[in-house]
Amino acid sequence: MNILVTGGAGFIGSHTLIELYKAGHTAVVVDNLYNSSEESLRRVAQLTGIDHIPFVKADIRDRETLEQIFANNHLDACIHFAGLKAVGESVTKPLEYYENNMNGTFVLLDVMRRHNCKNIIFSSSATVYGDPAIIPITEDCPKGQCTNPYGQTKSMLEQVMMDLQQSDTEWNVVLLRYFNPIGAHPSGRIGENPNGIPNNLMPYITQVAVGKRERLGVFGNDYPTHDGTGVRDYIHVVDLAMAHVAALQVVERRQGLAIYNIGTGHGYSVLDVVNTFMRVNNIIIPYDIKPRRAGDIATCYCNPKKAERELGWKARYGLDDMCRDSWNWQKNNPDGY
Ligand code: NAD
Ligand code: UD1
Repeated sequence: MNILVTGGAGFIGSHTLIELYKAGHTAVVVDNLYNSSEESLRRVAQLTGIDHIPFVKADIRDRETLEQIFANNHLDACIHFAGLKAVGESVTKPLEYYENNMNGTFVLLDVMRRHNCKNIIFSSSATVYGDPAIIPITEDCPKGQCTNPYGQTKSMLEQVMMDLQQSDTEWNVVLLRYFNPIGAHPSGRIGENPNGIPNNLMPYITQVAVGKRERLGVFGNDYPTHDGTGVRDYIHVVDLAMAHVAALQVVERRQGLAIYNIGTGHGYSVLDVVNTFMRVNNIIIPYDIKPRRAGDIATCYCNPKKAERELGWKARYGLDDMCRDSWNWQKNNPDGY
């Protein structure tokens, strides 16, 4: 298939491009490079051995350019990554987040419909479950209260796409609820490149390891978990990328609407991650126990059986691989791209 990949220059998008090409698909990338660099696409081309990745630098809210992209290319489906994703920033800039994520998706869906391309895979998040009612989380766990505008956009956009699919059954909509993506391509050539001080655990750890930050703060050690620190379902970004390729089957089967949790099904605490990182990479990560971070929950991990059963997809990488590959990327690219 020929796939429009919005946000394809970003962390998950760049890894997904590699797996798409490996599986025999082709892609056209649209990205405004707000949170990424074109260098990632050059490296994807090198890694896949193709000449270049077709790329249009544009904002998905730019309807005219999007129309042109569809007019100039036969596109079978869209994998929609483009969006703003910093939870803390979304609390201070709610309008920007709602505007970018909601409006961008509205324009995209409308242009897709006009060009009769009605197949979309959407990057959703475990955040839609709020403080989950069931652990491990299955897809029929009720959605919860999102504590921030970023999470609200994911939850609302899921609803928008479900309503759209119900109104017109020609649409095939796949909502992928990612758990905690970390790791990097094993080549160490592409990876996560956060701006400023990282909010997420793994980029913070790798920046301590590379000497950019002094010590890690562990947010709370009094949660009801095996060691008191927060438990999450970390997933290797290459596994996550492969889940998108598998999700294209929903489109091929004309399945209509499908929702999948994309995680490993294993919960690891903050200290499990820190200790594994230290062991695998033979590096000391100094840390201090800090107060809990507002909005955090104790435990979040999924039951990934539905994706396994229906898509034949299963995460292959473990926490050791994730820690090794995150560090391999960071040490080879201390300043990112
Ligand atoms: P990222 O920031 O690396 O990639 C997103 C890309 O979208 C960036 O390249 C950015 O420049 C681009 N973009 C943003 N707004 C745009 C717009 N209006 N027009 C065109 N391009 C635009 O983020 P990522 O980690 O690769 O995440 C990809 C998607 O997955 C996002 O939608 C994110 O919310 C979602 N997600 C990410 C995580 C995670 O932990 N990384 C977890 C759950 C869901
Ligand atoms: C966060 C977002 C979630 C988003 C996900 C992926 C919140 C509340 N949730 O998830 O919406 O989809 O990122 O981008 O922000 N931790 C530390 N020290 C740190 C950083 C994190 O101890 O410096 C702890 C956290 O308290 C948590 C765990 O590490 O227990 C994972 O945190 P993080 O990587 O930020 O992911 P989430 O909070 O699960």
